Amino acid sequence: MVAQSLSTTVTLNNGVRMPILGLGVFKVPDEETYRVVTEALEIGYRHIDTAAYYQNERGVGRAVGDSGLRREDIFVTTKVWYNEHGRKETLAAFDRSLEALGLDYVDLYLVHWPREGRMEAWKAMERILDEGRARAIGVSNYLVRHLDDTIARSPVVPAVDQVEFSPFLYQKELLSYCRSRGIVLEAYSPLARGRRFDDPRLVKLASKYGRTPAQMMLRWVLQKGMVAIPKSAHPERMRENASVFDFEISAEDEATMDRFDEGYHTTWDPESIP
Ligand SMILES: NC(=O)c1ccc[n+]([C@@H]2O[C@H](COP(=O)([O-])OP(=O)(O)OC[C@H]3O[C@@H](n4cnc5c(N)ncnc54)[C@H](OP(=O)(O)O)[C@@H]3O)[C@@H](O)[C@H]2O)c1
Repeated sequence: MVAQSLSTTVTLNNGVRMPILGLGVFKVPDEETYRVVTEALEIGYRHIDTAAYYQNERGVGRAVGDSGLRREDIFVTTKVWYNEHGRKETLAAFDRSLEALGLDYVDLYLVHWPREGRMEAWKAMERILDEGRARAIGVSNYLVRHLDDTIARSPVVPAVDQVEFSPFLYQKELLSYCRSRGIVLEAYSPLARGRRFDDPRLVKLASKYGRTPAQMMLRWVLQKGMVAIPKSAHPERMRENASVFDFEISAEDEATMDRFDEGYHTTWDPESIP
């Protein structure tokens, strides 16, 4: 049941299918990543989110390679860090990521932050897409103005924008902008790193549904038509986080959760980036 649900996909603007629930591996040390990703794949996760910045692409790639699964059945995302923006630099960073992952292609390549030089990075990514070395390209931490700027200057609309998003950081305008342009919005830190699990309103709703606060937060994101990539290094929590396909939050309770928004960021807010 869980394994089957983890294969549920959304279709990106270029036809590529992306599993709507994945595993994030930020802050998992490379030597532990092999075990974590191997366990996730055993549970049924088919989407892994890493980045050059996380320094654990090797562990991800080894786990994917040793899994016995077909490469085309696993969706792998990685990202270019902002110190490698530039046509040449981004192409070289991508080669290093592929080498570390031990893969011939990634499923999704993202500009990690909309910092200086992002358009040159994007141009390099257009080429990577063209060459078939990334099946889709997208961005991360982009606000509406960053997306507008990219779309105005490129024939390729980002397939995905990966941003921090949770009931405590409900980016409603960005979501409706992305919906209107066919960009899939992907929620990182969808659990607010566990820092709001004890919110009494969340605890109350969770007990009404017989679910955990983590499951309520993930279900809320999925009901918005988004993709979520919770991180856990523990298989029992990975299973818990994946068990969100067999219940629905009512429209009324979803609206209650919408009101949890307090602009709560666990990481940098891209608002200050012009
Ligand atoms: N694009 C970006 O700039 C960006 C930024 C941040 C994150 N991300 C991506 O998004 C992924 C997820 O975000 P995140 O790691 O920041 O935060 P998160 O997924 O919101 O929360 C992860 C934290 O919650 C704990 N946890 C997970 N499931 C739990 C459960 N069921 N019960 C209790 N605790 C639980 C984890 O601990 P344990 O591991 O000990 O279980 C970990 O401490 C990252 O791994 C990364 O892939 C992207």
